[in-house]
Amino acid sequence: TGGLALEQADRLIENAVGIYSLPLGVAANFTINNKDYLIPMVIEEPSVIAACSHAAKLVRECGGFFASADESLTIGQIQILFENKSGRLLGSAGEKILAARDELLALANEAHPNLLKRGGGAREIKVREFPDTRVGPMLVLHLLFDTRDAMGANLVNTACEKIAPRVEELTGGRVNLRIVSNLSDRRLARANCRIKNDLIGGANVAERIVQAQALAEIDPYRATTHNKGVMNGIDAVALATGNDWRAIEAGAHAYAARDGNYRALTNWDVAANGDLVGALELPLAVGIVGGMTKAHQVAQLALKILNVESAQELATVMVAVGLAQNLAALRALATEGIQRGHMKLHARRKIV
Ligand code: MEV
Repeated sequence: TGGLALEQADRLIENAVGIYSLPLGVAANFTINNKDYLIPMVIEEPSVIAACSHAAKLVRECGGFFASADESLTIGQIQILFENKSGRLLGSAGEKILAARDELLALANEAHPNLLKRGGGAREIKVREFPDTRVGPMLVLHLLFDTRDAMGANLVNTACEKIAPRVEELTGGRVNLRIVSNLSDRRLARANCRIKNDLIGGANVAERIVQAQALAEIDPYRATTHNKGVMNGIDAVALATGNDWRAIEAGAHAYAARDGNYRALTNWDVAANGDLVGALELPLAVGIVGGMTKAHQVAQLALKILNVESAQELATVMVAVGLAQNLAALRALATEGIQRGHMKLHARRKIV
């Protein structure tokens, strides 16, 4: 019936005045890496779960989804300013940071001894130079931190705050921001699938899906809607499991524009044998411990239904759901149109 008591809500946020409910459903038919899953989804939009379950069924008949996720390398950023508006006077500050790599990693690890015991911790330091900004020369230190089964924002923020004073000493600069980056491009998840074209409705339908894909590759107006469909599935699982869907959304859309043009996150092609083949890759910084995943009883239940053992496994499930959701949308758009199925399910609303 919701999973969150008013007293808990009051501790989670400020000025809490109530609890806002959304439907929790379960998508069926998913096989991912040869394992079967039931997928809890929190969403208010009719037909998303039905469409997703149907697409998963087609894919299951052809072997299921195959998916993988990078280890949980979360990026923390430290902004270092040199207050010299004439510009280009970064000198050797970046080299000094890199020379102190081991010291800085050890210092960052001091912030999280328990995470270290679980095999996580600071992994890499990178420096990016912006010699000529409107506030003078700037360095950005990236701290790459393996946050294991946590989404990791708090862990990384604390680690960045821990090393910032030493970074100031090393560089002679002044640290301003110390914060996680939501462009989690070291935490990518990817899925692919293959569907026999007779299952999808024939060669003609497969071809129309590829034509839809082609538009989403060249036109941001269509790519935005195409990706919105992908995120219908991913956000619903993020909500069900208590994950930060705003962080996931921000990362996904930035990744979709990584080469300067905003484009589709998925890819669809017809293979030589006529099968429709699909793929999706996006950053997925998700967790199964900490934050809402722990505090919210429904999030706990959702994780139990999912039966995932790690944040990486949750990311593989979510990327497969995103691909299924996109397949379902494109198939409907390329055949009967979205409104017929949508409206049939909308009509049920009158009953309640
Ligand atoms: C609706 O929530 C999502 C779609 O518009 C996605 C798409 O057009 O690909 C159906």
